[in-house]
Amino acid sequence: MCGIVGYIGHREAYPIILKGLKRLEYRGYDSAGIALYDGNDIKLSKTKGKVADLEERLEKEISTKGSLGIGHTRWATHGVPNDVNSHPHFSNSGNLVIIHNGIIENYDSLKKELLKRGYIFNSDTDTEVLINLIEDVMKQDGIKLGKAVQVALNQVVGAYAIAVFDKNKPNEIVVARLGSPLAIGIGDDEFFIASDASPFIEYTKNAIYLEDEEMAIIRRDKEVNIRKIKDDSLVDPYMQELQINLEQIEKGGYDHFMLKEIFEQPRAILDTFRGRLLIDKAIIKMAGIEDNMKKFLNADRIIIVACGTSWHAGLVAEYIFEDLARIPVEVEYASEFRYRNPVIKENDVVIAISQSGETADTLAAIKLAKSKGAFVFGVCNVVGSSIARETDAGAYTHAGPEIGVASTKAFTTQITVLTLIALRLARAKGTISSSDYRHHLIELELIPEKVEKALKSDAYVKTIAAIYKDVKNFLYLGRGYNFPVALEGALKLKEISYIHAEGYPAAEMKHGPIALIDENMPIVVIATKKGHYEKVVSNIQEIKSRKGKIIGIVTEGDYSVRELADHVIEVPDTLESLSPLLTTIPLQLLSYHIAVMLEKNVDQPRNLAKSVTVE
Ligand code: AGP
Ligand code: GLU
Repeated sequence: MCGIVGYIGHREAYPIILKGLKRLEYRGYDSAGIALYDGNDIKLSKTKGKVADLEERLEKEISTKGSLGIGHTRWATHGVPNDVNSHPHFSNSGNLVIIHNGIIENYDSLKKELLKRGYIFNSDTDTEVLINLIEDVMKQDGIKLGKAVQVALNQVVGAYAIAVFDKNKPNEIVVARLGSPLAIGIGDDEFFIASDASPFIEYTKNAIYLEDEEMAIIRRDKEVNIRKIKDDSLVDPYMQELQINLEQIEKGGYDHFMLKEIFEQPRAILDTFRGRLLIDKAIIKMAGIEDNMKKFLNADRIIIVACGTSWHAGLVAEYIFEDLARIPVEVEYASEFRYRNPVIKENDVVIAISQSGETADTLAAIKLAKSKGAFVFGVCNVVGSSIARETDAGAYTHAGPEIGVASTKAFTTQITVLTLIALRLARAKGTISSSDYRHHLIELELIPEKVEKALKSDAYVKTIAAIYKDVKNFLYLGRGYNFPVALEGALKLKEISYIHAEGYPAAEMKHGPIALIDENMPIVVIATKKGHYEKVVSNIQEIKSRKGKIIGIVTEGDYSVRELADHVIEVPDTLESLSPLLTTIPLQLLSYHIAVMLEKNVDQPRNLAKSVTVE
């Protein structure tokens, strides 16, 4: 994980790198640092903490002059988050400086070799080993930086996106990638380097995304020279025009990105089915599905692999696919799947779900499935991400950039895409009647305005948050389609407020968690009108008899739950299969308001990062 930024050109590098780091801070925020070449020497400032802490310190510590520089915001893997372990890291001579995103797995054996050769190490990081290895190669073989980076990387096992420069050659930066993203922004006689395009979108819309096992030598005022790390062969650069704009990555008047993203959901869901859900013709058009229809229709089963919130979206999809398209589905944690020798057959279709498209476990699961001959379909948000490229085909969610570490609009748009796929397959297989199919399309089209309505509960949810913000435990219950929503509600609360929360199938409560219930325990129960409503009402009775505090998520106009619950939050009526898109909304708002009231860092919760590119 972590964010890396670099600049070489004719402007002052510092403001570009600083702003870029702030935009990438969602990727990691244990520490931050910047190295600038001031025309003579490399000036470096780094500190434990946020980019704002760095800003305060750097301007007192070093001159901010220079048109070449690199910056880093860290999510520590090797070595605690402190000043010394922060990036950038110097080589022993002080000539070379590096920023690194990823893990050098064989750092220990490389370090031992370098220690024998007299190198000393100031930090505990794997990164400092890599920069000294590069220096050692330069010295031993008498070669230039670009070649030395290549030779060194061929000895490295692990994952990386790196940027390195040499103070004796201040007209070039060398970058490389394997398993961690790296974009190069191409301006007029200037180049930008970053983990994603957000640090440079106001300067250029042209970008090259390095592929795995590629490196580039970027020369001031000249060109970008891309080569394969393994065999040094030249690669033709593929320049892309960026689709994102500045507004999309700024807070737009909201206090936090998370709140902005929660409120963006009506638009995000609309964007997800725009051009795909053609209501007049009653058809669903998705190129990735049409082109591979045979694979889907012949599939013996669908295996969904994902992590975290995306895994929860996968669980919702399991219900939809089995219910509507009658295809057996298994939903797997990518991190387990990749290591448990799963049975995968050629007729299996694997769907990988990932907001960032960079999650290491999900990527590894995809590679495993592909190696066993399965067809792999990706559902990603980030366009051009590693998972989007690694899969055989796919569908983007089109939610727009999600910056808040806690996933919100990614979840609802993933469910939207998966619902479209399930409906399309159900139609093709004839497992849904045409009237039922039409009914689903009509109801799906109404979802954005219903989400808008569900968001109106915001002020009321805030009053509930104020009542329960100091409790230590929460329980979330749901059944059927809304069981995964209970899991997701609990995850949201845990992630950003650090309150312990558990999601459970409502009926399973009596097999254990019921023991936790007393007058101090708030229990969020999703009890919408469709789908096991009476059963859930009975579960609520059971909670009531044990004096638990009940927060019911109910369908508009409900009165049975209202009589029993301490609080009810209404959402509009819809089909049971679409209800997760609405019931999720108040749960997102509840966790958000509790975290704000507890003065937690909502957008950057402790220990987490937006894309988990390590195992
Ligand atoms: C969600 O709120 C989490 N931060 C996390 O569980 C996330 O969903 C998970 O890491 C998967 O990420 P991805 O969708 O980018 O693959
Ligand atoms: N492995 C490096 C470290 O621990 C880089 C981690 C990152 O990607 O931020 O410093």
